[in-house]
Amino acid sequence: IHKEAVAKIKDINDMKSLQELRVKYLGKKGSITSVLRGMGKLAKEERPIIGEMANKIRQAITSSIEEKQAKLEQEAMDKQLQEEVIDVTLPGRPIQVGGPHLLTHIVQEIEDLFIGMGFEVKEGPQVETDYYNFEALNLPQNHPARDMQDSFYITNELLLRTHTSPVQARTMNAYKGEKPVKMICPGVVYRRDHDDATHSHQFNQIEGLYVDKDVRMSDLKGILNLFAKKMFGEDREIRLRPSFFPFTEPSVEMDISCKVCSKKGCSVCKQTGWIEVLGGGMVHPRVLEMAGYDPKVYTGFAFGMGTDRIAMLKYGVNDIRQFYMNDKRFVTQYHQA
Ligand code: PHE
Repeated sequence: IHKEAVAKIKDINDMKSLQELRVKYLGKKGSITSVLRGMGKLAKEERPIIGEMANKIRQAITSSIEEKQAKLEQEAMDKQLQEEVIDVTLPGRPIQVGGPHLLTHIVQEIEDLFIGMGFEVKEGPQVETDYYNFEALNLPQNHPARDMQDSFYITNELLLRTHTSPVQARTMNAYKGEKPVKMICPGVVYRRDHDDATHSHQFNQIEGLYVDKDVRMSDLKGILNLFAKKMFGEDREIRLRPSFFPFTEPSVEMDISCKVCSKKGCSVCKQTGWIEVLGGGMVHPRVLEMAGYDPKVYTGFAFGMGTDRIAMLKYGVNDIRQFYMNDKRFVTQYHQA
């Protein structure tokens, strides 16, 4: 039995057959086990001799099996290590990472510019009360100028804000008519417009407000001029045209020169050489008063620019809807490395 077993163990090359052999010799019905079981039938003198022999053989077979098992395990391990070798010098697969949306990027750029000129950055709610969106801005109920901004009403009193101007009133209220205000406020606004290449029912504005004891129209012009040059280049000029807003007096609209394309056919400025980018003016005395500022002591300017418009001009985007469709081919073009 011993020799036969050892020979067989030697030939074995896999765990399963080794297990079968173990059962065959050492299992409950295995050959060694049956020898040991049959001991009772033997004569008294023979029992210790046979018993000792059987035990020795059992031990011998057990240790050969264990040896073989260890060897097989080692071989399996070696093989696995060989197969799973990693070449750490191979170039990795690039991971796709996201980046800020072009609009987010533009807002940050504009924020940086104005922070540099001493402005704070404020925020206001997109669901706004009729009071802040209109009333506090000198647009009482039934005022015809409310038609300039077709709105989405939620209840009689609540609507989606049609501009970022309510944040003017909110900020002045919070400052209680006591200290100067110098803030900008970027944000999403909503109007009941039909969407086309230059209109979207949801778009972005950046509001600006500077209220202090001696703020003048020339301050507005100076700051906007600086803004235009920093944003679009030193060769850009601005032009202020008279306009009307109920919350500013006098009111202006600002154009930026469109030098590059004014000579040939230009779709952006329609060959006028100028592009309109914002509305603004001197804060109306009634607006200051309603927010708790004494218009005899304080004056201020305000403006509201179309962020999408600025981004379209700066990056040559020809359809405002691109900003809101989340087409990855568009969005990823403007991710910075
Ligand atoms: N709120 C105005 C608009 O949306 C822009 C504006 C802001 C005009 C501040 C004057 C002062 O058209």
